[in-house]
Amino acid sequence: MKPTVSVIKADVGGCPGHVKVHPKTIERAKEHMEEAKNSGLLIDYYVTNCGDDLELIMTHKKGVDSEEIHNLAWNTFKDCTELAKKMKLYAAGQDLLKDAFSGNIRGMGPGIAEMEFTERPGEPLLIFMMDKTEPGAFNLPIFKTFADPFNTAGLVIDPSVNSGFIFEIWDIKEHKMVKMSAPEEIYDILALIGAKERYVIKRVYPRAKLPEDEPVAVISTEKLSFIAGKYVGKDDPVAIVRAQSGLPAIGEVIEPYSFPFLVSGWMRGSHNGPIMPVSQRYAQCTRFDGPPRVLCLGFQLAEGKLVGPVDMFDDPVYDNVRVESAKVADYMRKHGPFEPHRLPLEDMEYTTLPKVLEKIKGRFKTTKK
Ligand code: F6R
Ligand code: MG
Ligand code: MG
Repeated sequence: MKPTVSVIKADVGGCPGHVKVHPKTIERAKEHMEEAKNSGLLIDYYVTNCGDDLELIMTHKKGVDSEEIHNLAWNTFKDCTELAKKMKLYAAGQDLLKDAFSGNIRGMGPGIAEMEFTERPGEPLLIFMMDKTEPGAFNLPIFKTFADPFNTAGLVIDPSVNSGFIFEIWDIKEHKMVKMSAPEEIYDILALIGAKERYVIKRVYPRAKLPEDEPVAVISTEKLSFIAGKYVGKDDPVAIVRAQSGLPAIGEVIEPYSFPFLVSGWMRGSHNGPIMPVSQRYAQCTRFDGPPRVLCLGFQLAEGKLVGPVDMFDDPVYDNVRVESAKVADYMRKHGPFEPHRLPLEDMEYTTLPKVLEKIKGRFKTTKK
């Protein structure tokens, strides 16, 4: 059994503003998914939201980059946009950057994480969804999970995990990628992925036990701003991570989120702020349009069927992380428009800031050397 898990997401309109997906939009998306399941195209699905992003979690046998599956997602987003327009939801169709579908949803606005793999006798699956941040936000937690022995005990004490992992890292500006091995190359890996605006972990592959060409983690890497050439909302990434039996355990995959690390995004996609791990109930962005949130749903896969979910951060053990995140949010906010709360200029080039600078350009006079 080789199922494909596809998580495809888009912001098709928020309520109010960029806070949250409307329940009617979710209902409409479910109708499309149900129809596709009844027709045999999908094995199973789960529809949810993280903030203003509509998240389609789909399983099927069509492989990655399937035209049929991408078309289904596109049509679902299109129809949900129509509904959003009728309801006058905010920024209806925000992430649908092209008018017509041409076989593959990549580069059209929605974010995609997909993987096809041999389903093991027990196949635990974690789906991570972030709002008000960007793909590089997954660099730190994914690195810790698959390469940091202080996070993942299995790297030290389980021989089926400690042969390490291969990281596929994308340069999202130059459209290049490199595969690097952990643990041998962890310093060089960090040299790249610490620059998370540019170098983004796309996939992780196992080195032992499991088929080497089947990823164990995949992250969406679409950068809306690079596609659109201007700011059209943050990229709000998703990730799929497999766990257990030769891979990091569930608890090792979610352990990095016990630290509210700083990510870029937040208000107007232009600020650094702490990630906050939240339950489905709090997967909505309020304060200063944030702070950036991460939601995680856990499933068991059964012949491609999604058994679950468990709302992984719906647990008091994360309360202190949320408190710390709120404290860091306070601290960062006190900087107002100053860096490093506000992003550095080069990260603002696709926002509305260049228009402000343009306005005063003519008033600059040359200074003496
Ligand atoms: C960030 C985000 C929001 C908006 C902000 C301004 O990803 O979506 O913070 O950037 O609310 O939105 P507009 O320009 O639509 O008024
Ligand atoms: Mg939005
Ligand atoms: Mg969003």
